[in-house]
Amino acid sequence: MKTRISKAMATRLIETGIALTSINNLDELLEFIVHEARGLTKADAGSLYIVNGSNLDFLVCQNDTLTRKVGADAERGLFTVYSIPVSKQSLAGYAALTGEALNFPDVYNLPPDAPFSFNKEFDRRNGYRTMSMLNVPMKAPDGAIVGVLQLINSLDHNGEIMPFEDDMVAVVQALASQAAVAVKNAKLTAALMDAHLDTIFRLAVAAEYRDQDTARHIQRISEYTKIIAKSMGLPGRDVILIGHASPMHDVGKLGVPDSILLKPGKLTPEERVEMEKHTVFGGKILAGSESEILRLSESIALTHHEKWDGSGYPYGIKGGSIPIAGRIVAIADVFDALSSPRCYKPAFPMDKVLAILEHDTGIHFDPDVSKVFFGNLDEIQEIHRRMKESG
Ligand code: C2E
Ligand code: SIN
Ligand code: SIN
Ligand code: SIN
Ligand code: FE
Repeated sequence: MKTRISKAMATRLIETGIALTSINNLDELLEFIVHEARGLTKADAGSLYIVNGSNLDFLVCQNDTLTRKVGADAERGLFTVYSIPVSKQSLAGYAALTGEALNFPDVYNLPPDAPFSFNKEFDRRNGYRTMSMLNVPMKAPDGAIVGVLQLINSLDHNGEIMPFEDDMVAVVQALASQAAVAVKNAKLTAALMDAHLDTIFRLAVAAEYRDQDTARHIQRISEYTKIIAKSMGLPGRDVILIGHASPMHDVGKLGVPDSILLKPGKLTPEERVEMEKHTVFGGKILAGSESEILRLSESIALTHHEKWDGSGYPYGIKGGSIPIAGRIVAIADVFDALSSPRCYKPAFPMDKVLAILEHDTGIHFDPDVSKVFFGNLDEIQEIHRRMKESG
C-alpha cells in the first residue's frame, strides 16, 4: 500500500496528540487544533465548528491571507460567531450529520447533484477566494461527533492553491478524533469548574446568616484576584485556579463564634486573638486535599493576613516567603473590606480607601502586587460597583 505520510508528519501528529492532552482551556484548545491541522496540510485558512444541540457553532477562524491584508488587530473583525444547522445543506453540516469527510478541489464548482452548496457570504464580505476545502468531522471514539474541522486552500511551495491530497484526509481525521476527545474533556472540566464555583457561592449563601455580605464579598474577591493574577503575568491556568480558590479564604470564619464575628464594635484583644484563628481554622478545613484548587485555597486561607513586613498573622512570615496567591488576596481582601460596610465599620469613601492602600504598600502589601492593583483600578472599581451588597 502506498503512503505519502512521512515519518516527520507521523511524529508531528503524535506530538500534537500529546500537546492536546495538556490544554484544558477550551478556547485555547480549539485555536491550537486549527493551527496544527493547518500546519499539517499547509492550509492558508481553517475554521472550527462545535456541535451544539442541532446546530454547529462557528468558533474559530484563522486566515493567513486576510490577516496579512488587514493586520492582526483587525483580524477579529473577520470573525463573527454564528450558528448553522446540522444539515446536508452546508458542507460542514453534512460532515457533522453523516460523519463523512468532504474533500473538494474547488467549492465554487461542486458536483451538480451534491445536496450541499457553498455559502459565498464570507468570501464576498472579505474579498477572499475559497477554493480547495477539506471538511473533517471530529469524531470521538464512542462515535459522537463533537465538531467539524474545516481546512481551506492548501498551498504549494510557491503559495499557489492546490487540492488537499487524499492522503491527508486520514491524517487530519486522526488529528480530529484526538481533538474530539480533548474537546470533550475540556468541556467536562469547564462544567466541573463551574459546578465547583457555584457550590462555593451556595455554601457562602448558606453561611450568610452569620455574616450578611459574605456571598457578594467572596464573588468580588474571585474577580479582583483574577484581574491581578492575570495582569501580573501568571499563566492562564493559575489565573483560573486563583479565581476558584480565593473565594474560600475566610471559610475558617465558620469556626469563630457569632458573638465575635458579628460584634458591632471594636474587638477586645482577647476577641482579636480568637478572630485571628480563622486563618488556621481555614487551613485545617481545607488541608490534605488532592485537589489543586483546594490545596491553593488552603495556602490562601493560611496566608491572606500575612504582611509584607512580617507583622501579619498567623506566622509572621514576610516578603517573598508569603505565597504569591496570599499576597494577591491580601490587597483584594482589604480593598473590599475598606470599601464595603462591615458590622463594625461603615464603607469608607474611595479616596480614603486608596490612601490606606497606598500608605500600606511595602508595609502590608507587596509593592509589585500593589502596583498591579493600582494599574487595574478602573476595572476593579467597576466590579465593586456592579457587585455591591444589596440593601
Ligand atoms: P474583614 O472585615 O474582611 O477585614 C479584612 C481586613 O481588612 C482586615 O484584616 C484589615 O486588614 C482590613 N481592614 C478592615 N477594616 C479596616 C479599617 O477600618 N482600617 C484599616 N486600616 N484596615 C481595615 P484584620 O484586621 O486582620 O481582620 C480580620 C477580620 O477580623 C475582619 O475581616 C473582620 O471579620 C474581623 N474584624 C477585624 N476587626 C474587627 C472589629 O473591630 N470588629 C469586628 N466585629 N470584627 C473585626
Ligand atoms: C484550565 O486551565 O482551564 C482548568 C484548570 C484545571 O484543569 O484545573
Ligand atoms: C464558604 O463557606 O466557602 C465561605 C464562608 C465564609 O467565607 O465565611
Ligand atoms: C463581610 O462582612 O462582608 C464578610 C467579611 C469576610 O468574610 O471577610
Ligand atoms: Fe480573613
